[in-house]
Amino acid sequence: MNPYWQSESVQIYNADCLEVLAELPDESIAAVISDPPFSSGARTDAGKAMRGAMLRGVKWQDDWFSHDNLATFGFLFLMRLVSTELFRVTKQGGSCHLFIDWRMYPNLYGVLESTGWNVKNLVVWDKQNFGMGTNYRNQHELIIYAEKGDCNFRNHNMGNVQKVKRVQAEYHPTEKPISLLERFIDNVTDEGETVFDPFCGSGTTLVAARNIGRKGIGSEISKDYCDVSVERLAQGWAFTPPTTACNSDAGESADLQADFYTPADSTSQALSTPTQRR
Ligand SMILES: C[S@@+](CC[C@H](N)C(=O)[O-])C[C@H]1O[C@@H](n2cnc3c(N)ncnc32)[C@H](O)[C@@H]1O
Repeated sequence: MNPYWQSESVQIYNADCLEVLAELPDESIAAVISDPPFSSGARTDAGKAMRGAMLRGVKWQDDWFSHDNLATFGFLFLMRLVSTELFRVTKQGGSCHLFIDWRMYPNLYGVLESTGWNVKNLVVWDKQNFGMGTNYRNQHELIIYAEKGDCNFRNHNMGNVQKVKRVQAEYHPTEKPISLLERFIDNVTDEGETVFDPFCGSGTTLVAARNIGRKGIGSEISKDYCDVSVERLAQGWAFTPPTTACNSDAGESADLQADFYTPADSTSQALSTPTQRR
């Protein structure tokens, strides 16, 4: 499969993540960081409102977000397949951070546990002020942290409540702060290692990975959000990747990784023109 866009350190695929995962070699990824389309188990906006899930504001009332409308069973079927594949492509000692809310947390915990992951902790992202709603308005999100085997966690001087101000969603309705993702990536990877985000949305994980000198691979089913990611990633290059390929012992001799480390053109190359952001 050809990337939708690639640079020296980032590849974006406009495809279902299961198709992309099928082409990734075993044990080729150091860390998974992702915000899956959990929708809190409700299919409609009315159902989401009742379940306290993220609603699209007026700004997002278009069909871009139609890939985040799975009810609980749909989410479970998708994530069981995705998690099995994530486990396969992650190297021994690799790790996985997945955003989730309090309602879907037990479902995702069971999915991870049943597909081989060693669930190690639950991180709370404290947004430092509360959002819309009633009855204890939402001020936090949850992140499940799991490992494949034992990860060499780099920073033990850190608690499981992380205070980072929420971002004004500019690129995606469930956009996460880049600094929070940089923190996660820094804790579990070394420079030059590869981070994978199967549901990369507007590319926040990929921007974070690039900012701190990691490689990033993302898949996103919506072409519009791929275009947004390209637009964000094309805004300047903060990092010059190392000249030697990293993870050289990770079975990267073929498929996606081979293209990744030897891009035909050293300049970043958009394969389509980004659309106007709304
Ligand atoms: C919760 S959002 C992630 C947004 C991200 N946190 C950001 O900052 O941009 C989940 C994304 O997954 C995408 N998606 C849903 N199902 C998918 C699938 N099977 N494969 C790839 N992407 C998918 C949706 O289009 C959506 O953009």
